[in-house]
Amino acid sequence: MGNSLEGRVAIVTGGAGGIGSATCRLLGERGARVVVADIDRARAEAVADEVRSSGREAMSVTVDLSSEESITAMFETVVERFGRLDIMDNNAAILTPELAQRDLDIGGMETDVWDICFAVNTRGTMLCCREALKIMERQRSGVIVNTASNLALQGNVIQAAYSASKAAIIQMTRSIATSHGHLGIRANTVLPGLTGSKSALENLPDRLLEIVREETLTPDLGDPMDIAHTVAFLVSDEARYITGQAIAADGGTSIHIPGYARLREFFPSPEDRQP
Ligand SMILES: NC(=O)c1ccc[n+]([C@@H]2O[C@H](COP(=O)([O-])OP(=O)(O)OC[C@H]3O[C@@H](n4cnc5c(N)ncnc54)[C@H](O)[C@@H]3O)[C@@H](O)[C@H]2O)c1
Repeated sequence: MGNSLEGRVAIVTGGAGGIGSATCRLLGERGARVVVADIDRARAEAVADEVRSSGREAMSVTVDLSSEESITAMFETVVERFGRLDIMDNNAAILTPELAQRDLDIGGMETDVWDICFAVNTRGTMLCCREALKIMERQRSGVIVNTASNLALQGNVIQAAYSASKAAIIQMTRSIATSHGHLGIRANTVLPGLTGSKSALENLPDRLLEIVREETLTPDLGDPMDIAHTVAFLVSDEARYITGQAIAADGGTSIHIPGYARLREFFPSPEDRQP
């Protein structure tokens, strides 16, 4: 028992991105053999290179999560190379600035925005879970971490398609945990809050960033490594009794009533209290 992942084979989708690349590096450090899977092969290969340069085994694979064919091909490649799969980290999502600008409220929702969010984020994650489970069922072991968002828990004036596509992932993960727990397979969802990866910060106007900072209970916003550590814990044996959970790593933004953090201005502050 412990946090070692020595020899385990791990696929990280979106492995070329902010959170995904941090996760690849950390899983590699803990001993996993890492498959960096992304639609952007060049960046995925650069991450695999980094993992290899720290003395660990890694490979990159091109995958487009909106294509079932591409997903099944990825699993064939991984099985051919490693013969097994221990960790499936479904981290990729479509997060382009163009999509973010068009993903507003349901009243004005453009159908293609809804469809692409569900095709990549939800259907893509489901297909990766299905293919991973085929291998894990044979092994009678394995662990899945799916990635939602704290936005999957609460209403928002914008990002209606993205947040719905992520909310479905939480329920799908509970289904997997329920149907596959007895086979030694665990599944949990990680819910990042705003995490300082490049794409997340680029998409946000300054004022919005200010509001998020106000609602974050921890002194600092999170960074990709905070999410990587959550994933690394969930896939380790230390978390062997944890399954079906949706775990927010969001500095507490999702556990309080928005705006209420500001009420501290009206009351004595804990640090002003005399011992
Ligand atoms: N960063 C945040 O603030 C934040 C907050 C909440 C949830 N999340 C979630 O965390 C995960 C990672 O986010 P990130 O901030 O690292 O984003 P990112 O944009 O840096 O990384 C996403 C990666 O997914 C890849 N990708 C996009 N479409 C794909 C497709 N069709 N097939 C395969 N790969 C594809 C991209 O190439 C990219 O490398 C996402 O699921 C995101 O929804 C992030």
